[in-house]
Amino acid sequence: MKDTMERVSLNWSELSFDYRQTDGHIEVRFENDAWGSARVVDGDTINMSIASTCLHYGQECFEGLKAFEARDGRMLVFRPEENARRMGRTAKKIHMVSPDEPTFLSAVDEVIRINRRYLPPYGSGASLYIRPLLIGVSALIGVRPSADFLFVVFATPVGPYFKGGLKPIQLIIMEDYDRAAPHGLGDAKTGGNYAAGLRGMLAARARGFAEALYLDAKENKYIEETGASNFFGITKDGRYVTPRSPSILPSITNKSLMQVARDLGLTVEQRPIHAEELHEFVEAGAVGTAAVITPIEGVQYHDELIRFSDRSEVGPVCRKLYERLTAIQSGDYEDTHGWTHEVQR
Ligand code: PLP
Ligand code: COI
Repeated sequence: MKDTMERVSLNWSELSFDYRQTDGHIEVRFENDAWGSARVVDGDTINMSIASTCLHYGQECFEGLKAFEARDGRMLVFRPEENARRMGRTAKKIHMVSPDEPTFLSAVDEVIRINRRYLPPYGSGASLYIRPLLIGVSALIGVRPSADFLFVVFATPVGPYFKGGLKPIQLIIMEDYDRAAPHGLGDAKTGGNYAAGLRGMLAARARGFAEALYLDAKENKYIEETGASNFFGITKDGRYVTPRSPSILPSITNKSLMQVARDLGLTVEQRPIHAEELHEFVEAGAVGTAAVITPIEGVQYHDELIRFSDRSEVGPVCRKLYERLTAIQSGDYEDTHGWTHEVQR
């Protein structure tokens, strides 16, 4: 059947990671101990009490995932069930009720379907970013968990998170700021973590760096992650090394990339990485849904800029990882791990 919805006209290959209103969003409400049915809502505003717990006490969490157009026009979304599960884990930590997996997944499908005019064309380098959001909407003034929740899913077309895409960035280790505490919420995708990261990010940018790279808050020694992506380093002898920590977000892209790295013959190590160990890496990258794989040229630590290569170009391992991952995401490489889900028009 011919799809009668014509794509909007945008300069797709020049898109930045910015919000753009699309045709509509999905809303599902949890009230009286039960989820209602999903509604397609025009526009991009929501209605809630000014006393909602999300506004005052931070009872909110979100997810981020991407949809891609394949060469043959199929609409593919990358590992949505992983995002559904992570939202479930996050919600539990902050005493929220998350939608079950089928509700989450069908809302993701539906938001892509209704906004397919905004799905960037195959090969443009852009994607449709999907943002599921869960907020506590009970009107309360005392600090206690909400009883009512609103699950929203919207979509917006995006380009690279870090300007230039595969162009290497420089990071700075910010010892004056912590992103998350060991027994806190660093492994949950809740908005407070991002508010906590703003000071570090802005301080890093003021010094000419793309982002802050955080150390663990307890010992101030081990690499954690940036404000919006995990970190990995590549050693001379072909090991993919990425931090293990209770206070970093378990990235779905990193989890996938660890598998891709194994598929490409690299040894994968997930373990604490001492900041001094940065000297051992010949390449490094920031990894996440928004960041994809952004090569890191160097990290400023104390007074030293630790460079991973002399080039200002992406290294060969990062390039290979990037090419394989993005080829799977857009259906160009056989999806042997069953990561892509096709959205029916
Ligand atoms: N770390 C943080 C703090 C993030 O915000 C993100 C983005 O979601 C990631 C890592 C990467 O996670 P994922 O690959 O699941 O998008
Ligand atoms: C993502 O990569 O999807 C994120 O959520 C990072 C974001 C804060 C832009």
